[in-house]
Amino acid sequence: MDDTTAVHFRLETDADNIAWLHIDKAGAGTNVLGTEVLRELDRHLQAIATQTPRGLVILSDKKNGFIAGADIEEFTRIKSAAQALELINLGQSVFNRLAELNFPTVALIHGFCLGGGTELSLACRYRVARDDPGTRLGLPEVRLGIHPGFGGSVRLTPLVGGIKAMDLMLTGRTIDGRQAKRFGLVDVVSPERHLRSAARRLLLDEPPIHRPALLDRLSNNTLVRPLLARVFRRQVAKRASKQHYPAPYALIDVWLKHANDPQRMLEAEAQSIAGLIKGITARNLIRVFFLQEKLKGLGKDSDYEPRYVHVIGAVTMGGDIAAWCALRGFRVSLQDQSPERIAPALQRAGKLFRRKLKHPRKVTGAMDRLMPDHRGTGIGRADIVIEAIFEDAEVKRSLYKDIEPRMKPGAVLATNTSSIPLEELSGALEQPDRLVGLHFFNPVALMQLVEIVNGSSTSAEVSRKAMAFTRQIDRLPLPVTSTPGFLVNRILMPYLMEAVVLESEGVPPVIIDKAATDFGMPMGPVELADTVGLDICLHVAGILAEHFDADVPERLKKLVADGHLGKKSGRGFYTFRKGKAVKPKASGHGWNLDDITNRLMLRLLNEAVSCVREGVVSDRDLLDAGLVFGTGFAPFRGGPMQHIESIGANMLRKDLETLVQLRGKRFAPDPGWESLFTSGGGDD
Ligand code: NAI
Repeated sequence: MDDTTAVHFRLETDADNIAWLHIDKAGAGTNVLGTEVLRELDRHLQAIATQTPRGLVILSDKKNGFIAGADIEEFTRIKSAAQALELINLGQSVFNRLAELNFPTVALIHGFCLGGGTELSLACRYRVARDDPGTRLGLPEVRLGIHPGFGGSVRLTPLVGGIKAMDLMLTGRTIDGRQAKRFGLVDVVSPERHLRSAARRLLLDEPPIHRPALLDRLSNNTLVRPLLARVFRRQVAKRASKQHYPAPYALIDVWLKHANDPQRMLEAEAQSIAGLIKGITARNLIRVFFLQEKLKGLGKDSDYEPRYVHVIGAVTMGGDIAAWCALRGFRVSLQDQSPERIAPALQRAGKLFRRKLKHPRKVTGAMDRLMPDHRGTGIGRADIVIEAIFEDAEVKRSLYKDIEPRMKPGAVLATNTSSIPLEELSGALEQPDRLVGLHFFNPVALMQLVEIVNGSSTSAEVSRKAMAFTRQIDRLPLPVTSTPGFLVNRILMPYLMEAVVLESEGVPPVIIDKAATDFGMPMGPVELADTVGLDICLHVAGILAEHFDADVPERLKKLVADGHLGKKSGRGFYTFRKGKAVKPKASGHGWNLDDITNRLMLRLLNEAVSCVREGVVSDRDLLDAGLVFGTGFAPFRGGPMQHIESIGANMLRKDLETLVQLRGKRFAPDPGWESLFTSGGGDD
């Protein structure tokens, strides 16, 4: 095997003449399938074919899993549809070679088996998966704006039936080994110690390959597909519009037209992806994927390993932060002024644990890790103390004075303040360098982002520890400076306030919200303000108004004064029934939605530019990451700065200038529009 010098694979043949092909991508922590790996796999398969072993097992030597998917880095270097097609054809031909081997083959799966990894496993005759929650199989390509391309849809649909296969591919969700067994996606689930013998058994016994149940088979039938395709399209439309997210719709088309002809379906799959991969949605979603990787990487250069967390303040935020930390395996004590104030948080924690952990033993374990502690005995044991008490600098300072002498040397003090600059708080401490902001968002269990607020006295080491801790509880850290509103609230607030102004002008809330959701925001600004709480919005808006010479709309003050605080009081801009906003149907008729979108988004973008110019975050990527993961800013647009680049900074600045004339100085373009965008932006 001349050029099969094994770089990424290792082949061994055992006494039963079974070939074991180990994948272990050189120089990488995770196996991904790029051109080089695929070519080497191809050479190995050619060589193995000539040796006619009893069977072939493909397995991974990486601890974290089998194969995480295609090499997404390589996607970013694709310049044309022809180049994309070349890569897809390579993958398809290698997997076809694997599928056509005339001896049995097994994929031995542990940990991540995603995208191209699942597609490779589907080209094997059998699949064995390790029985643990960490083993995850799936085809999440739609989340990157594409769909399976290495034969995944062609092989999965006949194996498990159209309904199950399309559900997996259209949602991009992942499943563990047991679920995959129920699906028919794997043949055997086995604990670690029996994995190899399970694979060997399959090769020696050669049982018939999995056949889906009659109903599952029927779902691929030519007469049934058009009906199901309509249902799939309707389901997808609830989550994502075709205009913004074309990939799932393209996948439905490929299946609808070609599910009865595997060869044609392979060709259609390849053509469809080649078209999608160069589109703006895929480009931006791939960008968002890398932004997420960037945030994940921020916690890496610290070996900080806290074990014990103490949280003070057990209402909304503190209670939920404590529960989340216990869920993620930390021992946590939760303090408030009395046991009665802690009890509701424990109840909410129980609900969270049951929802996330399911297994009663695990739920009990998490409950045991979360200890009510109204006397604060945990302070002396904690590696990290998180303060989430009233948003009042004086109250916070006096608490710090009280607790610091009781804290362990080296323990970190984190505040969840949403608006108070750390400089106003750190003066109360003997060691001001140990104070850092850990700004969680509400609801804690849903919002991935945590702002790591660095005050002027926060030490670099404490900041690194805060980021490492944030990763350990599976959240995304975003370092920001300790300036009013930090990053996310500062950018969100002008957008929310513009929505309030529009509402005061008589535009119905549903229309305002529609303009924003049509743009791609997950929730409109009026509903968001009601959900966050109008009192909280008023408080943050007030602080920002003080620092940035802005107005707080009278309408907001009046609603709060009248006790209409939004969702929590049952009424804000909307009336709430059973926790849901009651909304009349929005037709948009008679309203200029473009104008409304412009006003909302330009205020948001203007503030984003201002934050980059002032260095609230250290670069534009971090700003985009903050807004995508902290507010759900339309991911297919890649973040505010990316959006400005693709529309053109000059054009947007001129729109702002026009709005200054029409609507006033709140639209005054930030100087950053001139200094940050030399070329004026724009794709064309
Ligand atoms: P909250 O302000 O309604 O209640 C704070 C709790 O802290 C009360 O139960 C109180 O008894 C307790 N507390 C006050 N002083 C204490 C002391 N000395 N010792 C022990 N317990 C004490 O709670 P909320 O809304 O959860 O806010 C907490 C912090 O989180 C604030 O700094 C707020 O700005 C911040 N935050 C709030 C968000 C929200 O959406 N509510 C979002 C992000 C941050």
